[in-house]
Amino acid sequence: MSRRDDVLAALAQAAPDPLSGQRLAERLGISRVAVGKHVAALIDAGYAIDAIAGTGYRLTTRPDLPLDSEVLPRLETSLWTEIAFVPETGSTNDDLKGAARDGAPHGSVLAAGGQSEGRGRLGRTWLSPQGGVYVSMLLRPEMSPAQSAPVPLVVGLGVARALESLGVESVALKWPNDVWIDRSKVAGVLVESSAEADWVEWLVIGVGLNVKRPAESFEGAAYIADHADVGIVDTAAAVLDGVARAWEQLAVEGFAAMRAEYEARSALVGEDLRVLDRAGVEQVRGVWSGVDDTGRMLVRTPDGITPVASGDVTLDMQAR
Ligand code: BTN
Repeated sequence: MSRRDDVLAALAQAAPDPLSGQRLAERLGISRVAVGKHVAALIDAGYAIDAIAGTGYRLTTRPDLPLDSEVLPRLETSLWTEIAFVPETGSTNDDLKGAARDGAPHGSVLAAGGQSEGRGRLGRTWLSPQGGVYVSMLLRPEMSPAQSAPVPLVVGLGVARALESLGVESVALKWPNDVWIDRSKVAGVLVESSAEADWVEWLVIGVGLNVKRPAESFEGAAYIADHADVGIVDTAAAVLDGVARAWEQLAVEGFAAMRAEYEARSALVGEDLRVLDRAGVEQVRGVWSGVDDTGRMLVRTPDGITPVASGDVTLDMQAR
């Protein structure tokens, strides 16, 4: 914990009562000037702290933002070692990929309040107004590119479990890794990597979730806050834990052991579907028949079972 976190913890413990600057300084072994600077930094980060003349500081409101100081203490897993937060950026995946190239460590996380150039799969835009969770996670795995093939599905599974842990019902997965509530898209996953022929140097796992319904909501989108009484911090912490647990399960058991759960959570069971490539050209048409041990979707066609490694699944009903 940083000194700033110590100041926050002391104020939170005292709240709703105020704590004098002198007492805080003595307790933490720092000067009153330093206490004042940490309080100013907390206010800048979004905490509401009253400075009451002659009495001290009183913490009144914590921000519903995925700050390190809000999210890290709530995590039950230990994979994510630090969470950087920016109020607004272009794309957290782009930023974290840059950090990965500069040597950022395994377990780094970058979260943003909003994104101006959020990206989705297949070159799409991911609209990212304030009120959602936009988070990217950096992993430096010890695996080959072939072993990393099911990672996007594993992350989707981790996100689906996380939403259930928050009390959201009717959560399902649309291959490869979209998360639906009641057949409307609530979250998407974009996994990007740098790899050599036989090893993956890093993976950047980006997850975007619709949490609070904005004034102009997206057509066909679901919002977590419509289904559970939770905010940004709850959602971010649950998703980071969900992805960490799914990642650890993949490392220990392999995707073959997760396949049955993935298939049971699929929104596509029994569906007639079409798979389109990036240009929108139909590649396969048939009926969902599960996934294989590498995460490829299996489609039953008149010619037999066709494995599909990438593409966009289209049903009659179309989600965002
Ligand atoms: C999709 O459904 O197509 C994937 C959407 C992924 C969006 C997230 S938001 C955080 C991270 N930064 C990005 O630019 N994209 C991902």
